[in-house]
Amino acid sequence: MFERAIGFAPSSTYWRHLRRITANHMFSPRRISHLEPLHQQVADSMVVQTQLAMETKGFVELRGILQKGSLTNILNTVLGSSLSSDMEDKLGLMVKQGYELITMFNLEDHFPMKFLDFNGVKRRCHKLSSKVRNVVDQIVKERLKPSDQSIKGGNDFLSALLTLPKEDQLSDSDMIAVLWEMIFRGTDTVAILLEWIMARMVMHQDIQAKIQEELDDCIGRHCDRHVCDSDIPNLPYLQAAVKEVIRLHPPGPLLSWARLATHDVHVEKSFIPAGTTAMVNMWAITHDPSIWKDPWTFRPERFLEEDISIMGSDLRLAPLDRVEGCVPARH
Ligand code: HEM
Repeated sequence: MFERAIGFAPSSTYWRHLRRITANHMFSPRRISHLEPLHQQVADSMVVQTQLAMETKGFVELRGILQKGSLTNILNTVLGSSLSSDMEDKLGLMVKQGYELITMFNLEDHFPMKFLDFNGVKRRCHKLSSKVRNVVDQIVKERLKPSDQSIKGGNDFLSALLTLPKEDQLSDSDMIAVLWEMIFRGTDTVAILLEWIMARMVMHQDIQAKIQEELDDCIGRHCDRHVCDSDIPNLPYLQAAVKEVIRLHPPGPLLSWARLATHDVHVEKSFIPAGTTAMVNMWAITHDPSIWKDPWTFRPERFLEEDISIMGSDLRLAPLDRVEGCVPARH
């Protein structure tokens, strides 16, 4: 299934087609701006849960709240808001199982001989992907029923794919691969990033105070309203702090997908035979003193002193990205 998703499909006409659909239809500025109320709702709910935990227990376990918020956000973004909570839990469990599987050691990944799959990783991957196919297929079929009016004008990615012009339309199985990739990639990355942001804010209260001051100046001292997407350009220090968290704690520390050598190649003194998957150690790059001054210091100011893109075009934060410019979830 994954070989038909954006991050895995080999560079080809199909891959370029997916990139175009993603940029023009799924992450179009209009669709993203229509998703703002959803983001507000998810953020409000996380704040309420945090307050409730403080009042009832006197402490907050943020991880669970952030993971649930991130899952709700991505499921609503990708599949719309009509999912039952049972279905949300089912999809959440499948995401969790997927992450468990990609972090498991599998000898067969290094020596491609079937009998080396001692932990049954491959078998469990196949089982999970057929479960994903069935569940997402069922959701797509529901949406195609004439009684379901949410396709028309829906802001979610599924609506975007179902209303593509005829010449751009994807087959059902390709659509499922693309939708699942978004759900899978967009859940833990966001939750982990939020968790590190909160941890860094606790550890560096001087920086937290500066961010608070910037927010007060922008939206009013008494939090008269929510922060909106349109405020972001007026919050440069907040942006710099988020970038600094991404640098110190990249949510994807090891990049390997989409870096398969399609032919024999020499990189400096190393020979890389065709068929090799290169693993890029993103974490090592973002902590390398020859690339970053004082790499272990949390200093958002470095991103104010120099304009460094986190969207995929700067090799210090997204090396060897084949996307020429950005990852799709740049908004
Ligand atoms: C903090 C949040 C996120 C971070 C740090 C992040 C980071 C990245 C990085 C570094 C890559 C390139 C990976 C590689 O080259 O191996 C990537 C690719 C990708 N991301 Fe994200 N991502 C985030 C959120 C999301 C979300 C929310 C979505 C979907 C809604 C998403 C969808 C994708 C897709 C589809 C690709 C594949 C792009 C391609 O290969 O053409 N990401 N992301």
